[in-house]
Amino acid sequence: MNTKSTTALEVRNISKYFGSVIALSDVSMSVHYGEVMCLLGDNGAGKSTLIKTLAGVHQQSEGQYLVEDKEVRFNSPRDALNHGIATVYQDLAMIPLMSISRNFFLGSEPTKGRGLFKSFDVGLANRRSREEMAKMGIDIRDPSQPVGTLSGGERQSVAIARAVYFGAKVLILDEPTAALGVKQAGTVLRYIAQARAKNLGVIFITHNPHHAYAVGDRFTILKRGRTFGTFTKEELGREEMVRMMSGADELDALTHELQEFEHTDQLKASGKAAEVDQQLADNLGKR
Ligand SMILES: Nc1ncnc2c1ncn2[C@@H]1O[C@H](COP(=O)(O)OP(=O)(O)OP(=O)(O)O)[C@@H](O)[C@H]1O
Ligand SMILES: [Mg+2]
Repeated sequence: MNTKSTTALEVRNISKYFGSVIALSDVSMSVHYGEVMCLLGDNGAGKSTLIKTLAGVHQQSEGQYLVEDKEVRFNSPRDALNHGIATVYQDLAMIPLMSISRNFFLGSEPTKGRGLFKSFDVGLANRRSREEMAKMGIDIRDPSQPVGTLSGGERQSVAIARAVYFGAKVLILDEPTAALGVKQAGTVLRYIAQARAKNLGVIFITHNPHHAYAVGDRFTILKRGRTFGTFTKEELGREEMVRMMSGADELDALTHELQEFEHTDQLKASGKAAEVDQQLADNLGKR
């Protein structure tokens, strides 16, 4: 446990404009070490914009960004990474035809030999990547097998294990379970819990209230670029979260609207329907 501060990172009243588009407006949130903070919200709510700001891809237009209580301004994802903030995007930066171990060490390959004889240390990479994956409870049969042969869930797990191995303190996951089946999503959710157990701060974006509820400690809800606030699991409750995320309120409104349409259509049609029916019957009768 970090004794100086348990707040891994925090944003205060940040806004982000893209020209005249207000993607984020006055949003505040934080993540502590050893917790999973879920970021929830509809399509276009601003979730990706917020995490891209945290990850150094975007700079906020207004507001403060603090890492361990110190204000920062990142100019690139490399700056964020140097502060231990690692982001795993849904479309993973992996090369399907290259081996698991090669992908694990992509950009930081262990080498053996010197000068012209320096080469990628396959044995070491295989051993390390298998060990690291095993620490996260993932049993890789053959680290030299191409990443493309792994399931989506396993691939996400490699990316998470990799970030943890290279010293991430904060892990940001943008919809890692979106394209996965129940079992695979379960695998990824387990690694999220493992990362928390290792005292990382995790920001987990998902559209799935069940996935959020399974691992989340706190929940920040975004809607059209604004925040509804942050809630603990106890405050929100599963029913409420499912309702908020499934857009149940909007569905009720839509159902009502559709009923109205149906009603007016019936009224409009009622006068003429009988006429049409008669005509059809007459035509059929003539054949
Ligand atoms: N680079 C950009 N230029 C202009 N507008 C942008 C840009 N990036 C995002 N936006 C706008 O900002 C708003 C928030 O988008 P964002 O991608 O953050 O939403 P999201 O919550 O991640 O949605 P989804 O669930 O669909 O991934 C949207 O209206 C989007 O069109
Ligand atoms: Mg998004």
